[in-house]
Amino acid sequence: MLVPMAELLAAAQREGYAAGAFNTYNLEITRAIVRAAEAQQAPLIVQVGSSALRYAGREALTALVLAEAQRSPVPVAVHLDHSAKLDEIRWCVEQGFTSVMIDGSALPLAENIALTREAVAIARPHGVTVEAELGSIVGEEDRAAEREAVGLTSPAQAEQFVQATAVDALAVAVGNVHGFYKGEPKLDTARLDEIHRRVPVPLVLHGASGLSDAAIQRSIQGGVRKFNVNTELRVALFTALADTLPRIHAHYDVPGLFTPAIAAMQAVVEEKLQLFGSAGKA
Ligand code: G3H
Ligand code: ZN
Repeated sequence: MLVPMAELLAAAQREGYAAGAFNTYNLEITRAIVRAAEAQQAPLIVQVGSSALRYAGREALTALVLAEAQRSPVPVAVHLDHSAKLDEIRWCVEQGFTSVMIDGSALPLAENIALTREAVAIARPHGVTVEAELGSIVGEEDRAAEREAVGLTSPAQAEQFVQATAVDALAVAVGNVHGFYKGEPKLDTARLDEIHRRVPVPLVLHGASGLSDAAIQRSIQGGVRKFNVNTELRVALFTALADTLPRIHAHYDVPGLFTPAIAAMQAVVEEKLQLFGSAGKA
């Protein structure tokens, strides 16, 4: 069933676990994500970024993701990931997304606050949850490369930002990056704890691919209630396709090519849902 993301995060906050938010680009990835949540009886966030909407066609991808969410017996929030455009946010709100992320993190603080306030003004009357970002989470959303973290979130600014914008959830930069980590990922947990102490809303950790189980658990203690995972699903997809293609090539069997890839992605999502503590919480 389709639910507001705030509802899902509030339950996670109450019970001390985190929800998993997984990026989709197409039918196969969406299927894998939703099947995993159903298999694990877990509440779920399915998210699409601006580039995925451009790639798949925004009407088609939106219809697919919303239909899967509505059909599913588990609670599913449908979220717009990393959007810097208010017209895109407005469009998604009108279509029935239950959450949007306004990403003004590249802007100076005052401009990020102003942009985020506009997004809240668009979304709130529709009961749509708003996530915003403060600090810089480096790396591209769709293409993985090795990165080192820069531009960490200031706890004092985070407090000011949340008060000024009234957002529902805050994405923070505490050593997390998009894509692969350069060396062992090192999260600044003291900074995370300080943000958690000052900020009343659920925190979001982008770039959860590649984090150790211990880092995930420590982040949950530090107030993280939503983990964003993209790269690990794409790795599972590409690995399974590369493995299947040489064996199946002569038959041009489309379901035969994609079925193992869906299973591989589903396995990744199921493992994450267990790790985040949301398995069995639906
Ligand atoms: O917004 C999506 C994520 O932050 C995904 O990051 O590709 O490193 O898992 P990741
Ligand atoms: Zn992200």
